[in-house]
Amino acid sequence: MEKDILILAIETSCDETAAAVVKNGRCVLSNIISSQIDLHTLYGGVVPEIASRKHIEKINQVIKEALWEANVTLEDMDAIGVTYGPGLVGALLVGVAEAKAISFAAKKPLIGIHHIEGHVSANFIENKELEPPFLCLIVSGGHTHLVIVKEYGKYDIIGRTRDDAAGEAFDKVARAIGLGYPGGPKVDKLAREGDKHAVVFPRANIEGFPYDFSFSGVKSAVLNHLNSCAMKKEPVNTADIAASFQAAVVDALVSKTIAAAQEYHMDQVAIAGGVAANSALRQSMEAACKEQGLHLYYPSAVFCTDNAAMIGAAAYYEYLNGTRHGLDLNAVPNLKIGQR
Ligand code: KG4
Ligand code: ZN
Repeated sequence: MEKDILILAIETSCDETAAAVVKNGRCVLSNIISSQIDLHTLYGGVVPEIASRKHIEKINQVIKEALWEANVTLEDMDAIGVTYGPGLVGALLVGVAEAKAISFAAKKPLIGIHHIEGHVSANFIENKELEPPFLCLIVSGGHTHLVIVKEYGKYDIIGRTRDDAAGEAFDKVARAIGLGYPGGPKVDKLAREGDKHAVVFPRANIEGFPYDFSFSGVKSAVLNHLNSCAMKKEPVNTADIAASFQAAVVDALVSKTIAAAQEYHMDQVAIAGGVAANSALRQSMEAACKEQGLHLYYPSAVFCTDNAAMIGAAAYYEYLNGTRHGLDLNAVPNLKIGQR
């Protein structure tokens, strides 16, 4: 039998300080997440300087807990995986510096991981049968991409957002209707009490680019609707607005994903990133995939939002592909998908 590969993974690209131990890319032995959300909620969004400081305070403890819970030591690790971009530069630097220090001290290979490739790889954790090629819709707070995962670690980007990311639109609309940060889960919850047909918000199509997205139009339409109600002194039903806005975003995401699956002959579809936790998106994508005879995969909510287990899953396949980084690895805030 082949030897198990154990990876200690670290993720600090935004406002979660996270560490995990992952065996053979798909078995999560521990997954520790220290969230800073309460702190940033006071300011209505992530404050980069505060995020970096909190990561420094928490990182050692979070790693210790991850090793302890997995019942392993640093000596047992085969490699250290760390997110090195994209994200907030100061936040990324904390994880990268920590991973380099551990790699040097424990004499373990260092593997830098793209945060979004981590989100895609979250699908491998609970879906043991999922293997490339497949189509993946990535919807997070900072990114919206449609990619073909050709092989482990090899991606073709076929669509992206032209303006706001899907999660960003959720967060901005949530703020406008008084729900606060982070908005996605709150809109998701409130929308369940609303009528998604109450207001028709636009679904953008970009001519010649069928798989690109645009969410700034729907966001502005919500703001205009709220202003117009205020001027006419009409009452606003925030649950109806949440449901109608969510339906517009979900429709765009689902219709483009299904069309891409057909054009590229993909019979496996996955969704990833924080917005993949959205209940309406999951339901609607599930129904559309079923109708088209496609197999849909998605991670549990805890693996959709930022975590280190997904970084460990991605790092395992990079480990097998031979990717190794030196101690000159730096944080790359605008790292491109597929860049090594
Ligand atoms: O992937 P993620 O944790 O961080 C980034 O890499 O950006 O995604 C965070 C985003 C936020 O915009 C948050 O509002 C959104 O994911 N989100 C949701 C839900 N849960 C998180 N959006 C819609 N519905 C949800 N249930
Ligand atoms: Zn993320």
